[in-house]
Amino acid sequence: MRIIGERLIQEEDGYVVILQLDKASTEFAEEGRRQPQKDGVLADQTVEYVRRRFPHLKVKTVKIMVGTVLVATFSLTGAGQQDEVHAVAAVEAATGPQSLVQALPGGILTLGARGDGVKTLQTSLNHLGFSLAQDGIYGPRTRAAVLQFQQGHLSLANDGIYGPHTRYVIETLLMGKRVVVNPDDQLVVVNKQNRLPPGYVPRDLVVADVRFSFAEDSPKKWMRREAAEALAALFTQAEKENIQLYAVSGYRSYERQEAIFAANMQRVGADSANQFSARAGESEHQTGLAMDVTSAAAGYRLTTGFGETKEGKWLQQHAAEFGFIIRYPQGKETITGYQYEPWHLRYVGKEAATTIAARGSTLEEYVGIR
Ligand code: DAL
Ligand code: ZN
Repeated sequence: MRIIGERLIQEEDGYVVILQLDKASTEFAEEGRRQPQKDGVLADQTVEYVRRRFPHLKVKTVKIMVGTVLVATFSLTGAGQQDEVHAVAAVEAATGPQSLVQALPGGILTLGARGDGVKTLQTSLNHLGFSLAQDGIYGPRTRAAVLQFQQGHLSLANDGIYGPHTRYVIETLLMGKRVVVNPDDQLVVVNKQNRLPPGYVPRDLVVADVRFSFAEDSPKKWMRREAAEALAALFTQAEKENIQLYAVSGYRSYERQEAIFAANMQRVGADSANQFSARAGESEHQTGLAMDVTSAAAGYRLTTGFGETKEGKWLQQHAAEFGFIIRYPQGKETITGYQYEPWHLRYVGKEAATTIAARGSTLEEYVGIR
């Protein structure tokens, strides 16, 4: 249970405590709707929380809110007995835009109804150093923070302290970057401005059934299922045309990328390293949608020379037919943030890949995100 806000109302015979739960906690409401008796868990946790938080206060009632919806009411006068439960189906709606912020044409956000959710949001944003650009209107960085908040990525733990994930989001926002909110999306943009959550691991990783430049088992052989199948089809077609490709590196965890970037930084310095090596959280390899490939003629290495080999040229011509793009093309360094990498394939699906290849553009341009 994560509490993102609380309010006390003094009444003649004791206090009413209103606890604002975040969206993740709506499982309780869902659960309660199906099996009301399970709300005992919520009741116990609530009572324990309130006793710990307000040991000297005479609390008579605790109300649980999610967004603007009252989810449950507990009476504490009868030793933690719950006397009423309102489990609500439309909790999702309660945490949606209408209760917090309203998106306006032009991408400007203004505050909507000023309920508890909005006050919590405002307090959080003020703590983080975000502020209103004009009266009632947020600037782009604050807007990013608001979006993260809406997506449930920013929340206070019970003790009012931010957890590690929220801290990562805050750090990212303060860097002027964003945390991606659609990591499972085939068209997700992961780059120097859009970072993956550290804990993100795709759920459908499988070993790609292709020829690798190495023999041992390794997560480097993994890709998300659809991407792995598309890569196998690409390798099969290449083989038919007497083109022998070798896969080198697919999925990498956040931690693995951290180690790789640290080693590259040690070798050539941070700025140079970041021209070809992503910082942790900023690598597409963590999405499971990327694979680096090479050829014998390129010495099984990942060098720009690969682009000049027969295999590299075949790849440039045919990758899109299988839903892949050469993610870091020549001449697009200022858009992608990386130097030319003829070896780095990114799965985006056939439609996007075909369009991107035909236009000679990038994923950033296709999606319209920098
Ligand atoms: N080589 C690409 C940029 C990566 O490290 O993900
Ligand atoms: Zn790569």
